[in-house]
Amino acid sequence: MRSSSRVAQSRACLASLSLLCLAQGVSALVDSSGLSNYSFPEDFIFGVATAAFQIEGGWNIGGKGESIWDTYLHKHPDFTIDGSNGDVATDSYHKYKSDISNVKSLGVKYYRMSISWSRILPKGYDNFVNKDGVRYYRSIFKELLKENITPVVTLFHWDLPTPLMDLGGWSNPKMVDYFEDYANIVFTVFGDIIKTWATMNEPHQHCYNGYGGDNFVPALMSGGFGEYLCAHYMLLAHSRVYHLYDKKFRPHQKGKIGITLDAFWAEPKDKSNHSDLLAAERYLQMHLGIFAHPIYSLKGDYPDLVRERIDNLSISQGYTRSRLPYFSRKEIDLLRGSSDFFGINHYTSYLMSDMPIDIDYRIPSWDHDTGVLIEQNPKWPKPGVDWLTVYPPGFRGLLNWITKNYGKKIPIIVTENGVSDLGEINDYARVSYYNNYLYQLLLAMHEDGCNIQGYFAWTLMDDFEWKDGYTVKFGLFHVDFNSTERTRIPKLSAFNYAEIVRKRRINFKYIETIPSLQSNRL
Ligand SMILES: *[C@@H]1O[C@H](CO)[C@@H](O)[C@H](O)[C@H]1NC(C)=O
Ligand SMILES: *[C@@H]1O[C@H](CO)[C@@H](O)[C@H](O)[C@H]1NC(C)=O
Ligand SMILES: *[C@@H]1O[C@H](CO)[C@@H](O)[C@H](O)[C@H]1NC(C)=O
Ligand SMILES: *[C@@H]1O[C@H](CO)[C@@H](O)[C@H](O)[C@H]1NC(C)=O
Repeated sequence: MRSSSRVAQSRACLASLSLLCLAQGVSALVDSSGLSNYSFPEDFIFGVATAAFQIEGGWNIGGKGESIWDTYLHKHPDFTIDGSNGDVATDSYHKYKSDISNVKSLGVKYYRMSISWSRILPKGYDNFVNKDGVRYYRSIFKELLKENITPVVTLFHWDLPTPLMDLGGWSNPKMVDYFEDYANIVFTVFGDIIKTWATMNEPHQHCYNGYGGDNFVPALMSGGFGEYLCAHYMLLAHSRVYHLYDKKFRPHQKGKIGITLDAFWAEPKDKSNHSDLLAAERYLQMHLGIFAHPIYSLKGDYPDLVRERIDNLSISQGYTRSRLPYFSRKEIDLLRGSSDFFGINHYTSYLMSDMPIDIDYRIPSWDHDTGVLIEQNPKWPKPGVDWLTVYPPGFRGLLNWITKNYGKKIPIIVTENGVSDLGEINDYARVSYYNNYLYQLLLAMHEDGCNIQGYFAWTLMDDFEWKDGYTVKFGLFHVDFNSTERTRIPKLSAFNYAEIVRKRRINFKYIETIPSLQSNRL
């Protein structure tokens, strides 16, 4: 794959790449070799991430039950923009060994993945455990250990068993019990191997897009109510499972357990405008603080600003009670401190300015409650999907916001970060994205004192990207979805990431050095 035409192309691209770097103010090269002046500590966790529904396929194989994404996409084939579904995806159900050898080739020692709830408990309930499903994940975990790669496992990455959705999904308070029952089985059958758990992935995106809106399944469109019920019971379910692990499993399994949240960076549109500064802060509190404050703040509970704002708006809209449920004193105490690390997924930034709320506005929504006008900066590059513009300093801003709000004691682990493009094998935009975002992470560590212990690139290979189907490409490896083999090929960014992991520094001149690397194999 390291053909001469590729090298020629890479030279042609250098000009635009360095323009991108200049535009973003990266002047971090210390010498002519192009290596970053700061480095990643020897014990820094480098990994790569995937999620079950996005790669596994095998939707009805080996005794697996249906998840909401299976059921909904079979009923509504037009939901995804290419009419696709997750029935086969990258076929990792069958090809996990080649996936693991690709992970190994990156040189990373950690692999973040999720378990499909309905592969373990086909109906969602714990009265029947699917032995084939347990065997499948144990085979993956053993293969990873054999290759000296540590699995980091998420219990819930959006693929809820359909029978639980029929009862209201995360808007049903009983979900707290069902999630605990599922986690109890999973800790019992895998806890001897798995030492790092995350309960949930990105509750904001799941609740906002799936319960408040219709961008994600279950597409409930219950704005102003659904997303808050979902958030509330996901938080309670998270804390229940944290304490289950802490009391029943941690004493002998000796692992860690946390949660993965997400946030865009909120850049004030006009930094000299006070109401824009307040709007940016309000956005972060409504998107991230609403989940992080109950878990990581000293005080616990929802942030005051979120609480008051939704209470006030609910009353002014004529409701007797707040649309955001209240925690009991006991629930606040159980949530506070219920995570061993701060898992954060980050992709992009937006410009924020104040959007005055019309107090008489009767149709409630999270957007209306937030009261922020969200725009993209047309100057920030957009190499692929429409929602993702490239603004590396936003990453540093977010890591600092987390540190400022929740302190330096809680270790931050970046559980996802990455960019989409048009699917090129010579993915210069992705090489540049990783270099520049990782450099901002180094600045946050070395200059700002943020306690960042790990980083997972999203994602190992092109995959099923939810509503975007297979049209949006985030992979370090290309996947040929036209071939039944789902052939994987490493992209340029895979070689670049492997070099960062090996050298513990970023090589800003990686692309220029390709000719000298021609004999190297990943
Ligand atoms: C690394 O480069 C940055 C950006 O030029 C500079 O602010 C910083 O002081 C440098 N650090 C070291 C250790 O040289
Ligand atoms: C909520 O309403 C109270 C009473 O009108 C007011 O003092 C407070 O500032 C409001 N809070 C927010 C966040 O809007
Ligand atoms: C600040 O921005 C808001 C809109 O976000 C605008 O209405 C207001 O006039 C601006 N204030 C100043 C002092 O520029
Ligand atoms: C399959 O191949 C066709 C023709 O080469 C191409 O247009 C299409 O994008 C490919 N589909 C996928 C999912 O890669």
